Amino acid sequence: MKTVILGGGTWGVAMAIHLNRIGHEVVIWSALQSELDTLAESHAHPNLKGAVIPREIGFAADIRCCSEADMVVFAVPSVFVRTTAERAAPYLHCGQLLVDLAKGIEPDTYMTMSQIIEEQVNLGRDDRDRMHCVALSGPTHAEEVALNLPTAIVSASPDVQARNAVMQAFSPPTLRVYTANDVLGVELCGALKNIMALAAGICCGIGYGDNAKAALITRGMAEMARLGRAMGCDERTFWGLTGVGDLIVTATSLHSRNNRAGMLIGQGMSAAEAVKSVGMVVEGLHALPAAVGLANRYGVDMPIVMGVREIVEDGADPKDIVIRLMTRESKNEALDSQSK
Ligand SMILES: NC(=O)c1ccc[n+]([C@@H]2O[C@H](COP(=O)([O-])OP(=O)(O)OC[C@H]3O[C@@H](n4cnc5c(N)ncnc54)[C@H](O)[C@@H]3O)[C@@H](O)[C@H]2O)c1
Repeated sequence: MKTVILGGGTWGVAMAIHLNRIGHEVVIWSALQSELDTLAESHAHPNLKGAVIPREIGFAADIRCCSEADMVVFAVPSVFVRTTAERAAPYLHCGQLLVDLAKGIEPDTYMTMSQIIEEQVNLGRDDRDRMHCVALSGPTHAEEVALNLPTAIVSASPDVQARNAVMQAFSPPTLRVYTANDVLGVELCGALKNIMALAAGICCGIGYGDNAKAALITRGMAEMARLGRAMGCDERTFWGLTGVGDLIVTATSLHSRNNRAGMLIGQGMSAAEAVKSVGMVVEGLHALPAAVGLANRYGVDMPIVMGVREIVEDGADPKDIVIRLMTRESKNEALDSQSK
């Protein structure tokens, strides 16, 4: 398959290496000419230690390269998805597979990444020519995929043909792809778990231990599932790879920039200082306004999300937020999991 990866960042390059390994003809497009030059020259990505970018992978600065592809994969951070889809749209056509790898929810529209891509690429098309975008998401650190370490991921779309085609396109031996039709649940999980990873990092940065982290991950999951239920998602999604799986990997690993940023905030840095120190897009901070907005819109209790917002936006002391979380009204855990 001819595949264009839009985005020469950590995940785009790791997926390019994976797809090349399983026989695709891969081209990486980037908005940044300097990045393309460095990748082409060094055959390496600074965040992917030990991984080599094979010589067969091509590089393109002209987004018209999309018109030749069988599959176009969006791998830019969520903040660049809309503009990238807008730029690519004139060169996309029916019959191509569209895949989104970015995780996030747009702050002002509350749209997920696949919804944004579909909106942009279908502008001016009639219904017969509508293109679908498959969300490919799960517990997948780029650093490990680039090194060919076993990983599982989910191909999600209501369109059965599209999700099966993406499953086949990315499949074995080291990447095991499951399918799902609950694309909203999958994308909600992908965005919200980054906020929970920030919270877990903050806990760690304060100096709390494994008990606090386990409580936070579990109660964070309950919070995510509550919102998902209210929005009509399939609750089983939240207990699968894209839900609990991705939350575990993001909230417990130092590969996670959200976790690292949270840790720095817990140690006393402001959110802006933490982002500067991490040096990469911290998706949890971008997903926060939409998570707060959705919780309010659906009347769902999300105390951890609200606490992170107060720390990040109002400069609240993380220790005060933890005390507040710990002294909330007592509850029956099982009954609470069915409430709003
Ligand atoms: N890194 C991972 O392990 C991983 C795993 C799963 C999903 N994701 C998701 O994939 C997405 C990309 O993550 P990443 O780790 O590759 O991020 P990254 O910070 O490594 O990527 C940054 C890239 O964005 C691109 N870019 C910069 N400015 C741009 C612009 N103006 N327009 C278009 N593109 C621009 C450049 O190619 C740059 O390299 C995120 O949504 C992330 O949540 C990442």
